[in-house]
Amino acid sequence: MMKEKVRIVSITAIKGMNDILPGEVETWQFLEQSAREVFSLYGFSEIRTPIPEKTELFCRSIGETTDIVEKEMYTFSDKSENSLTLRPEGTAPVMRAFIQNRLNNLDPVSKLYYMGPMFRYERPQKGRYRQFHQLGVEVVGVEDAKIDAQVLAMLHQYFVRIGITSVSLQVNSLGCPQCRPGYRQALITYLETRLDMLCGECQRRYQTNPLRVLDCKVPGCQTATADAPSVLDHLCPSCHDHFGQVKKYLQALEIPFVVNARMVRGLDYYVRTTFELVTDQLGSQNAVAAGGRYDGLVESLGGPALPGIGFAVGLERLVLMKGDQQVAPAAPQLFIAAMGQEASEQAFVLMSQLQAAGVRTEMDYLGKSLKAQMRRANKLNAEYTLILGEEELQSGQAQLKNMSDSSQTTVMLESLVATLLEKLG
Ligand code: HAM
Repeated sequence: MMKEKVRIVSITAIKGMNDILPGEVETWQFLEQSAREVFSLYGFSEIRTPIPEKTELFCRSIGETTDIVEKEMYTFSDKSENSLTLRPEGTAPVMRAFIQNRLNNLDPVSKLYYMGPMFRYERPQKGRYRQFHQLGVEVVGVEDAKIDAQVLAMLHQYFVRIGITSVSLQVNSLGCPQCRPGYRQALITYLETRLDMLCGECQRRYQTNPLRVLDCKVPGCQTATADAPSVLDHLCPSCHDHFGQVKKYLQALEIPFVVNARMVRGLDYYVRTTFELVTDQLGSQNAVAAGGRYDGLVESLGGPALPGIGFAVGLERLVLMKGDQQVAPAAPQLFIAAMGQEASEQAFVLMSQLQAAGVRTEMDYLGKSLKAQMRRANKLNAEYTLILGEEELQSGQAQLKNMSDSSQTTVMLESLVATLLEKLG
């Protein structure tokens, strides 16, 4: 009887969650390494927090009526029935860690950065994913507008460093618990006169989260809010002064910016300064970085009454913006092509010595012909090749070929490591 062949179905990744493959990962490493270098110049240290947190942390910080908490969180119960959530952003976990570990006792000003995956159940599209990666920074302990400008200067410097200049910085002030309620009420009163123009979602949320209506992409809502009251006209004197200082310091540091009084943020913890770095290269997902002040957050999470400010950069969006300027993988510095069993074993030992000495070395493991090995050396872009056969093993010397100009030199196998280190500088 013929056996029926069982077709094994392969398993794919979860929708909106992507692999980062060799050939792409080099750009990621460049973006991450550049961040480490720039952030450390400004005195920031890395902090790593767990990926799941208690769900309550995000409800209390991001806000119960935000899109993130209402619809986008990856929330599940563990085996002890604790409600856990995969972090949708980094600020709340970092503040939780700051409070729990009393980082303010180490230094009155904490400058922290983090990088890693975040999770939001959004509709995936170009630049928007369900697992995405942020590079973020947070400063806790400073109210002075100098730190707002410094954080923005660092963000600017980072973009200069990674070679992305086609972005524009938009800044706004959202006021504080003293002046925001007045603005909120003025906005609700205004929206009430135009309810019939708003989309269903905005009709539902205009009372709970009126500021989000300003951000709605539906054309009717945009028309309805065209003449909406401006938050900047409702700032209390101290918020007005603070925003004035932020702008003054940005000018002093020659950081270009535009004020966008309609910019609101999708997280409730913001007060005063908020900002976005936007591009016109990514369609509707136009924010490559965003952030702002969250002066009441640490206290509302049970910590000391300390102000805070920070931002997060979306790494996938940076990679998209780098487009065809992706960073190439590091090529082997030497490819050893071996003919025959004995030469292959010798090549294997030599390769190991070279790698230990810091030379990127590659060889064939598949018993391929010399021609096929040389093809692979070429494909990998090896700087040098060395051909090892019976004759070379006997004489103890071989031809080292420079692949860029095809010049050849005879090298002694015993001093191969030293010769290569010298040639590679
Ligand atoms: P956010 O605006 O929600 O702010 O996200 C910051 C950045 O993360 C966005 O500008 C975007 O580049 C990227 N991003 C957000 N969602 C996605 C997604 N689904 N797919 C791809 N990229 C995405 C925050 O998360 C705040 N915690 C920032 C902050 C830090 N504020 C103060 N400190």
